[in-house]
Amino acid sequence: MGSEIKKIAVLTSGGDSPGMNAGIRSVVRTCAYLNIDCVGVYRGYQGMIEGDFKPLDARSVNNIINKGGTILKSARCDEFRTKEGRKKAHDQLVTEGIDAFVVIGGNGSFAGALIFNEEYNFPVIGMPGTIDNDILGSTYTIGFDTAINTVVEAIDKIRDTASSHNRLFFVEVMGRDVGHIALNAGVGAGAEEILIPEQNLGLERLLESLKRSKKSGKSSSIVIVAEGDKIGKNVFELKEYVEEHLPIYDVRVSVLGHMQRGGNPTCFDRVLASRMGVKAVESLLEGKSNYMVGIRDNQLILTPISEAIKAHTEIDEELVKVSDIMTT
Ligand code: F6P
Repeated sequence: MGSEIKKIAVLTSGGDSPGMNAGIRSVVRTCAYLNIDCVGVYRGYQGMIEGDFKPLDARSVNNIINKGGTILKSARCDEFRTKEGRKKAHDQLVTEGIDAFVVIGGNGSFAGALIFNEEYNFPVIGMPGTIDNDILGSTYTIGFDTAINTVVEAIDKIRDTASSHNRLFFVEVMGRDVGHIALNAGVGAGAEEILIPEQNLGLERLLESLKRSKKSGKSSSIVIVAEGDKIGKNVFELKEYVEEHLPIYDVRVSVLGHMQRGGNPTCFDRVLASRMGVKAVESLLEGKSNYMVGIRDNQLILTPISEAIKAHTEIDEELVKVSDIMTT
C-alpha cells in the first residue's frame, strides 16, 4: 500500500489557525524531499468537491512559514456531509490521480475524513489545526500557542486602561466548547477570575470573588470569559448583573473575537506544524491511514482519528488550582 502513494494532496479545513501555513509548507517540502507529487486543495472539502486543485512544489511555499491564515483558504463544507458530496470529492481525487491526503483542521474536518475513508478506503492523515486546543491525542494543536499569546497581549493592554480608570473588564475569548484559551491566557495575564465551560462557578461565587478583590485593595479587575462558558449569561449580561449587584464597580466589556485567529504564528506553532507535516507524509508512505498526528511529552504520536474525535481534551486541573491560588 505505502509504495503505491505517488501523489499526496493537502488541505486546510474548518476554522483557520496560525501555523496552518507552516503545516502546508512542511507537507509540501516533505513530499518534494521524498520525490512525491503534492497538490494543494483550495477551500477545504468544498474545493475537493469542485476539483479546485493546484500542484505545489518546494518553491510554491516560499515565505509562508511566518504568515497567519492559510494560503489554501479554508471552509466549513455542508456538502461533504452528504454521500453525494463525498462521491464528487472522490471522483475529483481519482481524476487528479491523488493517492492520499493530509487534512489540517479540527474535529469536524476529521469526522469528514473518517467517513470518507470508511466509504472509499482512501488513505488520510490528520494534523490538528485549531486555536481551541480541544483535540484528543495531542497536548497542543497548531495555532493554540499563537492565540494565547495574542490574548495575553490584548489583555495586557486592557489592563492598562482598566487600571487607569479603576474599572472591571469582562473579556470574552474564543473557546466554543472548551476553556483552554481562557484558562491559559487568564493565568498568563493575571486575570482575577476565569469563567470556562468545564466549571460552572455560579454567579454568587463571581460576586463574592469580586467583593473580595475590592476589599483586598485591588482597584481594577479582569474577568476572562470563554465564549462557551456555562454561567448562563453572556459578557454583556454579566456586566449588567454586576452593575446591579455591585454598584461599586465601573464595568466595561471587551470581546476579542476573530483577531485571536490571526497573526504571525509563534515559533512554537511553526516548529510544531513543521514536525507534524513531516510525520504526516512519512506515515502515509509507511502505509498508515486514518490517524491524526499529535504531540505528547514532546514526542510525535499517532492516534486513530476515530479516537481523536470522540471527545474534547480535558481542562488541566493543576492549572485551575494555580489560577485559584493566583487570584487570592
Ligand atoms: O476555531 C474554533 C473557533 O475559534 C471557536 O472557538 C469559535 O467558536 C469558532 O471558531 C468561530 O468560528 P467561525 O466564526 O469561523 O464560525
